[in-house]
Amino acid sequence: MDLDTLTDEVLAQCDLLGGISEEPGRLTRTFLRPPAKVVQNHLAEWMTAAGLHVRIDSVGNVIGRAESPISRPGVFVVGSHVDTVPDAGKYDGILGVLLGIATAKALRGRRFTHALDVVAFSEEEGVRFRTPYIGSRAVCGTLSAELLARRDADGLTVSDAIRAFGLGLDSVQAAAYPPGTVVGYFEAHIEQGPVLEARGLSLGVVPAIMGQTRAWVRFVGQAGHAGTQPMDIRKDALAAAAEFITTVERMGQSTAGLRATVGSLTVSPNATNVVAGEVRLSLDVRHAGDTVRRQAVEQLFAKAHAIGSGRGIRVEIEPGLEQSAVACDSVLLSRLADVLRSEGHSPEWVVSGAGHDAVIMADIAPVAMLFLRSPGGISHHPDESVRREDVRVALGVMVRFVANEVGVA
Ligand code: HGY
Ligand code: MN
Ligand code: MN
Repeated sequence: MDLDTLTDEVLAQCDLLGGISEEPGRLTRTFLRPPAKVVQNHLAEWMTAAGLHVRIDSVGNVIGRAESPISRPGVFVVGSHVDTVPDAGKYDGILGVLLGIATAKALRGRRFTHALDVVAFSEEEGVRFRTPYIGSRAVCGTLSAELLARRDADGLTVSDAIRAFGLGLDSVQAAAYPPGTVVGYFEAHIEQGPVLEARGLSLGVVPAIMGQTRAWVRFVGQAGHAGTQPMDIRKDALAAAAEFITTVERMGQSTAGLRATVGSLTVSPNATNVVAGEVRLSLDVRHAGDTVRRQAVEQLFAKAHAIGSGRGIRVEIEPGLEQSAVACDSVLLSRLADVLRSEGHSPEWVVSGAGHDAVIMADIAPVAMLFLRSPGGISHHPDESVRREDVRVALGVMVRFVANEVGVA
């Protein structure tokens, strides 16, 4: 099948899956909720049509293997994720999966030296259980008992979700690739930022993925009557949180290359005529350098405590994720850059501020990532988009790059 037809097929599949959501009127698809089953069925069908042998592992990853007469052990993995943030766009993650399936389809019938796996990771965003990368951790064998015991807003654990979805909890460890068997990992993903568009480029090569710290900060004050409680005796948790949030923003604005975000906040009792007794908010801090990020996090925690003590409010920090920055593999990147050049594109380096499954896969294999331009730099938003010509160019690069890596004869 020619690459133009495959490109149109990928974009039509993105459109179709973009309508499969757990919320009416917007795209939200979180770990092992019912819509994940519908997506799995579509992916299994499309992988089978691409000549891949399909299996679904114990955390809901859909894995298609290109069986062909292979002469050397080891598997080359191409993947990305199928879950989304709330009110998401329809390309984050899933585009990389569908481009992987299209690549396998384009190489169908060829002889490979290594096997090729296309992996649709079931969970990367960390929305339902507030901890990301469940899918890729499972294939890397790093899904801890602590993580399996994490609870969602309904009090269900990750293990409960696996059982409820009809998957085998006892085979979670069996989901892992045997050590040393993955010869390389490649992920195509939208850039989700403004860089490629600003440079007028379709594609970018990712040299590194920023490290990130995710945590929760609780401000515990005292609820009071909005009308009768004098201002000077209040322990207003929401006022304290507001002071902290602007501090986070100022830290991000004043530290080169730092991204600092408070994206989620809950107020209790959350009534218009009650001084807020408690606020719980999320903190997300990222930087290409781990030392800079860790120093910023320490300063922000200290500032939160200072704000609290100045107001007679207790502050509690709940750690969430501590992920070091990851350098992509220089050898794999140089081969990817060579393919871009041979396709007439300059290999622009774009450091990723977003986390990706490549961060986890780097524990078991050399990794490389290819970015596609994000029009308007928009992502994690329903207006997220891609240009057809960029998808077509990316597919051409992937077919050549993957063919090299699996040793197509
Ligand atoms: O939040 C992120 O870095 C990505 O979207 N998972
Ligand atoms: Mn995302
Ligand atoms: Mn993503």
